[in-house]
Amino acid sequence: MNSDRQPPAQPGQSVFRNWISFIGMVVAIGALFSFLLLYVLDALSKFSNPYVSILTYLGVPAFLIGGILLAFVGAGRERRRRSRGSGPASLQIDLNRPRDRRVLVTFIAGSVVFLLLTAIGSYNAFNFTESVTFCGETCHTVMKPEKTTHDLGPHARVACVECHVGKGVSWFVKSKISGSYQLYSVAFKKYPTPIGTPIRNLRPARETCEECHWPQSFVGNLDRTFNYFQSDASNSPYAIRLLLKIGGSDPRQGPVGGIHWHNLPGNKVEYIATDKERLKIPWVRVTDAQGKVTVFKTKNFTNDVNTMEMRTMDCMDCHNRPSHRYLSPEKAVNQQMALGHIDPTIPWIKTNAVYVLTRPYKTDDEATNAIAAALAAKYPNDSRIQAATATLQQIYAEYFFPEMKANWASYPDNVGHMIWPGCFRCHDGQHKTEDRKTTIKASDCNTCHTILAQGAGDELNQLSPGGQKFIHPGGDLDENPTCTDCHTGGP
Ligand code: HEC
Ligand code: HEC
Ligand code: HEC
Ligand code: HEC
Ligand code: HEC
Ligand code: HEC
Repeated sequence: MNSDRQPPAQPGQSVFRNWISFIGMVVAIGALFSFLLLYVLDALSKFSNPYVSILTYLGVPAFLIGGILLAFVGAGRERRRRSRGSGPASLQIDLNRPRDRRVLVTFIAGSVVFLLLTAIGSYNAFNFTESVTFCGETCHTVMKPEKTTHDLGPHARVACVECHVGKGVSWFVKSKISGSYQLYSVAFKKYPTPIGTPIRNLRPARETCEECHWPQSFVGNLDRTFNYFQSDASNSPYAIRLLLKIGGSDPRQGPVGGIHWHNLPGNKVEYIATDKERLKIPWVRVTDAQGKVTVFKTKNFTNDVNTMEMRTMDCMDCHNRPSHRYLSPEKAVNQQMALGHIDPTIPWIKTNAVYVLTRPYKTDDEATNAIAAALAAKYPNDSRIQAATATLQQIYAEYFFPEMKANWASYPDNVGHMIWPGCFRCHDGQHKTEDRKTTIKASDCNTCHTILAQGAGDELNQLSPGGQKFIHPGGDLDENPTCTDCHTGGP
């Protein structure tokens, strides 16, 4: 006879009185707790982050349901056990017994620690979804191009969510949908390569940029030198020094106008694009501060504008790549040659460098090896080629992403006009008023920028504040040249 024998189960004793069910209940309570915490954090946070919502409305409830299920599993086992032997309820707590007291204290202490850890865990998970690591590295292959270019650009210290997750209710809904869709598409490899752009739901709004950049305060000019090396045996250098007339809109601080004229308070520039990338813009309407409306269009455009989507021009119509800029092979090589990282005295190096960068590689590794092999074969006894090879491999790693098919050619950059239509989408001399008498102004080479100097060597020291006539190294050009007809950024 066992003196420790416990009394048989009372008929009314709940089948939930067993350890498994208790643990299930603690998990469920923890989940509930974490749900409330995340809900409050999300409500208080600056942004409505889609991933927090996923965590709150999908992740945490999964634990809640898991906990409840566990409680029922425990109950089911308990019922079977009782009906077999009709033994006592497996969980009897008698506070008079020291062992039971210890077990109970341990259980309560364990539960409290568990709830605390849940709180800390939820809080950290919340912070993690806002971090650049989460956005850029969680789905490593998919976001690698955007993460890499972001880290190299002027916005490296601006978190992804600062631009991509807006404020307000409409953004909440938008980003939640696209956030969940992204998780789904990554999990099931349904994403397109390259990732299409502009992604409407993810595309920042003008208010986003104006959190940090106050358009009224833009004043003055920006002096930039563009260095080139031509595709001949001696890689002939050529440079153009431009004074970009960014302009401003605060009459107390400087003259009003210039490139940022489009966004002056009071001015409204609307346009219609006939393609998804918004590269073809046949129709533009300007409403100025006095309310005067002017329409400019190309000769062949006769569509009914009322049936077409109209867009008001904002920062992103020019700065569409503020954070993810893929330098063209031409530009990246010119830059590194100008800096001397690729020795410009190696014969034909400009042409060969652009060539090796633009072969159709399948992976980073393949490219790294092939670039080294091709250059070693071309320049067998030239010690200068090692540094050039390393630099080219680095260029490849920073601006080419074969797995995602992302590179300069996949994403148009609208600031400029040399390899993408950019400003020339409207300023090409073809957009005129109905009577075809007036063209959009600012279509000659010295209106948006002044050509201060051009050429090589000493020519670059003779500055012309009034601007020089453009000398095209590739031969004479038409009156309204379309640079993109010949320049692509590649070979
Ligand atoms: C300064 C603002 C800004 C920041 C910061 C930023 N982005 Fe972007 N991102 C943009 C804009 C603008 C576009 C739209 C580009 C377009 O329409 O051509 C974009 C586009 C994208 C796209 C679509 C594909 C593409 O390249 O066009 C992805 C994916 C993306 N960003 C991911 C990220 C990730 C991940 C981070 C953080 C590592 C990040 N972004 C940080 C502004 C930003
Ligand atoms: C959270 C703040 C923040 C936001 C939001 C932000 N930027 Fe910036 N931006 C910066 C900082 C900081 C710099 C670097 C300034 C510097 O280096 O002097 C910068 C630099 C720039 C530059 C100059 C780049 C260059 O090559 O010199 C441009 C253009 C720009 N931002 C456009 C944008 C656009 C367009 C948006 C909206 C999509 C945007 N920014 C959103 C903070 C921000
Ligand atoms: C019509 C095209 C256009 C629009 C619209 C536009 N920008 Fe710019 N912006 C430029 C150009 C061109 C430059 C010269 C620098 C460059 O090439 O990146 C520039 C320069 C800048 C700079 C760098 C200034 C400096 O001194 O380094 C910032 C910041 C900037 N823009 C922010 C904005 C913001 C914010 C908006 C929206 C309110 C905006 N831009 C709208 C074309 C535009
Ligand atoms: C969607 C069409 C469109 C695009 C794209 C565009 N512009 Fe404009 N821009 C206009 C219109 C329209 C005007 C007003 C022309 C007029 O009144 O004759 C204008 C005016 C200007 C002016 C004269 C401002 C003044 O002081 O009067 C400059 C400079 C300018 N744009 C530069 C640029 C640059 C640089 C880019 C590319 C980064 C660019 N624009 C892209 C439509 C556009
Ligand atoms: C509507 C304004 C506008 C007009 C008109 C214009 N440009 Fe530009 N140009 C720009 C802007 C903006 C950039 C880009 C600066 C940058 O990349 O930061 C640029 C860049 C350039 C560059 C350097 C390109 C590169 O990426 O290497 C050259 C060269 C140039 N322009 C020549 C010309 C010539 C020649 C003409 C006359 C046929 C002309 N531009 C007319 C706005 C204009
Ligand atoms: C009919 C074709 C054609 C057109 C249109 C054209 N280019 Fe070129 N361009 C060339 C050729 C060819 C070269 C010589 C390339 C070389 O030797 O590397 C060249 C060279 C250049 C160079 C010297 C740097 C280099 O890459 O070699 C610049 C800068 C340049 N062009 C700017 C422009 C601009 C800006 C426009 C538009 C206003 C333009 N080009 C329009 C064919 C053209």
